[in-house]
Order: sequence, then structure tokens, then C-alpha cells
Amino acid sequence: MPTPRKVAHQSTDKGQVPVYTTAVVEQPWASYSAQDHQTWGTLFRRQRELLVGRACDEFMENQQRLGIGADAIPKFTDLDRHLRAATGWKLVAVEGLLPELAFFEHLAAREFPVTWWIRNPQQIDYLSEPDLFHDLFGHVPLLLNPIFADYMQAYGAGGVRAATFGNEPLTNLTRLYWYTVEFGLIRTPAGLRIYGAGIVSSKGESIYSLESAAPNRIDFEVRRVMRTRYRIDTFQKTYFVIDSFEDLFKATVDPDFGPIYYDLKGLDSIPAGTILDSDQVVHRGTGEGWASDGDI
Ligand code: PHE
Ligand code: CO
Repeated sequence: MPTPRKVAHQSTDKGQVPVYTTAVVEQPWASYSAQDHQTWGTLFRRQRELLVGRACDEFMENQQRLGIGADAIPKFTDLDRHLRAATGWKLVAVEGLLPELAFFEHLAAREFPVTWWIRNPQQIDYLSEPDLFHDLFGHVPLLLNPIFADYMQAYGAGGVRAATFGNEPLTNLTRLYWYTVEFGLIRTPAGLRIYGAGIVSSKGESIYSLESAAPNRIDFEVRRVMRTRYRIDTFQKTYFVIDSFEDLFKATVDPDFGPIYYDLKGLDSIPAGTILDSDQVVHRGTGEGWASDGDI
């Protein structure tokens, strides 16, 4: 059995360049150093505390159900038992970022790719690519929720299909993932809460997404989201708010996206911070601290 590689972004004079890998490996659990376990523990404790009253109940409760804690990096095979019983998902250990189609195919098969390696101590507050902490702490809990679990599988199948329609549909679908799975907010009786994995795994954005006056918070609308550019290297300028996972499911899984992709073809994209007249605005951001360029 070959030792899994750590495949990370390359630092060049043009900035960080993503490197892709498709290998599925075995989680080399015995190879984690004391420092790796400590990094996990530090991040786990910090986020778990910060997320009380900020992350939605489904996230907090399902994370608790996984039986993970600050003392050691979890074993994927232990998590698989919970996932299998709850929703039939399983984790596959990967070496780094997957190419789009490979990622979609895993999701469509109810396999969630989790990067096996964890960031080093200098990257505690930020790194520019997913690592074990982001993938596991951020994404795995909601895979225990039956509706969200089905949404993720349908998304994967939808991605495989979008790839046959060309590049624009793929871009539309990537934006949907970004603004839901990674950076989604949800309305609850107690107020707005976080469900996006990119937020819950970030100390700064857990606070900023809910409490800062700077970003826009807008009701989720599928076509609107599909046209909206996003930020990969700063906090988001706009967050989209869903009413429930059922509503998200009804707005995305039920409709055939074929005609929607067709309608959206050739329409201008919407800059990350723009508010439209047709938006249901929850909060109009002040835009304070926004970079003027760099929307993807
Ligand atoms: N309903 C979409 C389609 O017809 C698939 C999809 C499901 C996309 C869930 C995103 C999320 O392609
Ligand atoms: Co992610």
C-alpha cells in the first residue's frame, strides 16, 4: 500500500495555483504527528465554542452525534458507521483537491471526499484550500441529515449532467454549491444561523457572516445564485439565506436545470456584492472593507 501523498496548492509568482489529484487512499491515521492531533484539537475546541448560537441546530446536533472530540483526529472508518446507519454516506480519503467531474461522481455515489492531511500550525486561521479540518469538521455533520444528504447526492448527479451541457452550466452549478454548501445561512426562529462548511470551519467568517454590517444577506433564489460571482480569498460580500433544507431541496433537486441553464446562457454574471431590485434583502451590506477586484 503506497503512502498517501499530501497534494497542496503550489505557491508561484502568480499566487496559489491549485493542484488536482484523483487518487482515493486509505487514511494514514498512524502517521499523524502529535502536532497534527493538537492542531485538530485547537481548531475543534475553538470552533465548537464559537458556533454555539451561530451554527444551526442540525449542524451542532449532528456533529455531536458523530462522537468526535478535541483529543484526536477522528478515524474515517469510525465516522462511516454513523453515516451508514443514518443516510448511507461514506467518507473517502483523498490527497487534495479533486477535478470537478471526479468530485461530482463521488457525491453522486454518496461518497464524500475528505482530505487526509491537516494544515500546519502557521495556517491555523487561514489556508487557501480544503484540509482535513475543513472537510471533516465542516462538511460531515450535515451528511447525517437525510434531506441534506439527498441534496448532496443530487448535486453530484446534477454536476455529472451539467458537465455534458458545457462550461456555463458548470459555472452556474459551482456557484450554487459555493453559496449553499460552503457559505449558506439559514433562517430559524432564533435568528439567522450558519450551515455552510466554509463558514463553520473559519473563526473569522463565523462571526463576520452573521454579525458584520458589511456583507449583504439576501433570500436564496436559485437563478439569482447561479448568476452570482464569488470570492475565494476574502470573506463573502453576499450570503444567501434559505428558509429550511426542505426549501433548498425543493428549489434545486425537483426542477430540471436543463431549461434554466438555457435561459441563463449569455446573461451577464452578477458581481459578488451587487444587490438587484428583485432581491429580497435581509440586510443591505455597508460594503466596508470590500476589495474592488477579485470576484471569481
Ligand atoms: N435538479 C438539478 C438538475 O436537473 C440537479 C441538482 C440537484 C442540482 C441538486 C443542484 C442540486 O440538473
Ligand atoms: Co468545502
